[in-house]
Amino acid sequence: MIVLGIETSCDETGIALYDTARGLLAHAIHSQVTMHEEYGGVVPELASRDHIKRLAPLLAHVLAEAGISKEAIGAVAYTAGPGLAGALLTGASFGAGLAMSLGVPALPVHHLEGHLLSPLLADDPAHFPFIALLVSGGHTQIMCVEQVGAYELMGESLDDAAGEAFDKTAQLLGLGYPGGPALAKLAEAGVAGRFKLPRPMLASGDFNFSFSGLKTAVLTAVRASALAHQDQADLAAEFQEAATEVLATKALAACRQRRLSTLVVAGGVGANRRLRQRLDEAGKRQGVRVCYPALALCTDNGAMIAFAAAQRWLAGGYAAVEQQRAGGFAVRPRWPLQEL
Ligand code: KG4
Ligand code: ZN
Repeated sequence: MIVLGIETSCDETGIALYDTARGLLAHAIHSQVTMHEEYGGVVPELASRDHIKRLAPLLAHVLAEAGISKEAIGAVAYTAGPGLAGALLTGASFGAGLAMSLGVPALPVHHLEGHLLSPLLADDPAHFPFIALLVSGGHTQIMCVEQVGAYELMGESLDDAAGEAFDKTAQLLGLGYPGGPALAKLAEAGVAGRFKLPRPMLASGDFNFSFSGLKTAVLTAVRASALAHQDQADLAAEFQEAATEVLATKALAACRQRRLSTLVVAGGVGANRRLRQRLDEAGKRQGVRVCYPALALCTDNGAMIAFAAAQRWLAGGYAAVEQQRAGGFAVRPRWPLQEL
């Protein structure tokens, strides 16, 4: 079956075609970064309006790339939450409408489940069970994943998400939006250790995180004196060291506690090179295989939505499909993954 995946939860319009027999056929992403840049962050109303403009052209694009007509689509999957309410509604209404016109099921997908399963799209995918480190702009969680749909939350951030901490710290250093990649780039030119930042909750003995204190420590350093460019780079490098040390240490501790030898990393911060380096090194020492999605599939995309829906479909996890056929749809801007 060919599943169309639609992602519009935030500032990326993602469309993809996934075939349960042949794998990913085509995927395309339109990023709204340049549009939101001048406001220093995502403007929800602008995001929704832009998604509406992009959906139909992107659909035409992936159909052409895959060389199929829309009648070949067997199900339409869309991100139903969590995310921005208006942005979610654009993808959900487009998806449900398209599904109704084609006479195929519309499958609502949890955005984080998409991220969580995205490393399984790789050529040499991870196998269940595994520990997942989910690090996005809105979430930082360690999950124990038994199989599709069986996600146990082991720990999470008690305040800011890792991506949010990267973004806010980047803002403090005068870098643009989105801050994560910009901060990582600046950190490459810096030397960690010259500034001393805390490693929050490193020794807390659980799998929870806290990143807001780290951000405040950066603010204190920024306010203490005028920083030259090299100082900023050194501060960025130390921030990256601190954040990635806590993330990598706890993710691998979770693998030890559950005696699991596979760690899956998902979400936008999973694109961070220093985090990958740390996880790879520590994973090697501990005999843990660390699996990442392809770099293009780390941040929000339609492929992970199509894939997660297909996996649920194959596992028989869509009991409400007949209802979806009737054309109803709903979005959940707040939706804990454990409620799946
Ligand atoms: O998963 P994602 O695309 O969207 C959400 O669902 O939140 O993650 C976006 C987050 C942003 O906070 C962004 O700054 C961060 O991922 N990010 C990075 C890097 N690339 C993206 N953070 C650190 N280093 C990177 N290379
Ligand atoms: Zn995301």
